[in-house]
Amino acid sequence: MRILVTGGAGFIGSHLCKKLVDNRHDVLCVDNYFTGSKDNIVHLLANPLFEAMRHDVTFPLYVEVDRIFNLACPASPIHYQFDPVQTTKTSVHGAINMLGLAKRVKARILQASTSEVYGDPEVHPQTEAYWGRVNPIGPRACYDEGKRCAETLFFDYYRQHRLEIKVARIFNTYGPRMLPDDGRVVSNFVMQALRGQDITIYGDGTQTRSFCYIDDLVDGLLKLMDSPAEITGPVNLGNPVEFTMRELAEMTLKLTGSRSKLVFLPLPQDDPRQRQPDIAFARASLGWAPTIPLEEGLKRTIAYFRSVL
Ligand SMILES: NC(=O)c1ccc[n+]([C@@H]2O[C@H](COP(=O)([O-])OP(=O)(O)OC[C@H]3O[C@@H](n4cnc5c(N)ncnc54)[C@H](O)[C@@H]3O)[C@@H](O)[C@H]2O)c1
Repeated sequence: MRILVTGGAGFIGSHLCKKLVDNRHDVLCVDNYFTGSKDNIVHLLANPLFEAMRHDVTFPLYVEVDRIFNLACPASPIHYQFDPVQTTKTSVHGAINMLGLAKRVKARILQASTSEVYGDPEVHPQTEAYWGRVNPIGPRACYDEGKRCAETLFFDYYRQHRLEIKVARIFNTYGPRMLPDDGRVVSNFVMQALRGQDITIYGDGTQTRSFCYIDDLVDGLLKLMDSPAEITGPVNLGNPVEFTMRELAEMTLKLTGSRSKLVFLPLPQDDPRQRQPDIAFARASLGWAPTIPLEEGLKRTIAYFRSVL
């Protein structure tokens, strides 16, 4: 199949492209290299099944493809808050352009949505039926509301134009090729530990997150894309095993052998206290569940960041 991956030079996109090429698909990676890089896809460039194109998804794109994975969007607060208007445009105009393309060429299309659509949730763990609690005017809104609007567009194209859509709500994912200084908690802790700097924990360290290793996530995205047409999602994809930030910091110290100290800073505005996916729907509809425990994934991620340093 001819498969378009937008945001294909990013963290998740580059792993997805690799897996698709390994599965003998013809892959077109489209990226404006805002947070992605050619380093992430350099190992694919010599492969005739792989093609990279510099393009910004806020502009229309005309290509012949059978499937589209729409991943283009900066994902870490540092990057999506750098130019918030562009972030909303990327999610909303990007979705409109990719859905328009899917309609024209009758392609099946998958949206990389996010657990951020649940905002700071009152329901725990979050099921897909929960509508979320997002501050529409806060600093995270450009990302959260942009992704919510993209979901709306996907479901309107589904209802109005009978497009084959798939919506994945991705929870915290980590692994090799994350940006070292993107402010996300796993990369932050690992880089600080490897550099021997203080490990900065926001709040008292009791807030929790659940972390999904990249290989598990890519497996979930592929299963969702290949699922029967009636499965549109939204489907939560993430690892339901929860850790406190303090536990993550301590595991990072143990695995890196670092002597860094833990320091505590005030919580940023609108930071969710707790986030955990309910993946019952993914288990039942896709037969998917994560298999790689945090300690194992963290070891592989630490090895990657060591090589970067
Ligand atoms: N990593 C996570 O934990 C996580 C969680 C939830 C959702 N997601 C979603 O998954 C997708 C990929 O995330 P990631 O972690 O790989 O982030 P990333 O920043 O590494 O990848 C995003 C890619 O999109 C590209 N991009 C940004 N704006 C673009 C534009 N206007 N046109 C073309 N390309 C553009 C970037 O250059 C980058 O290569 C994003 O849509 C993100 O919202 C990720």
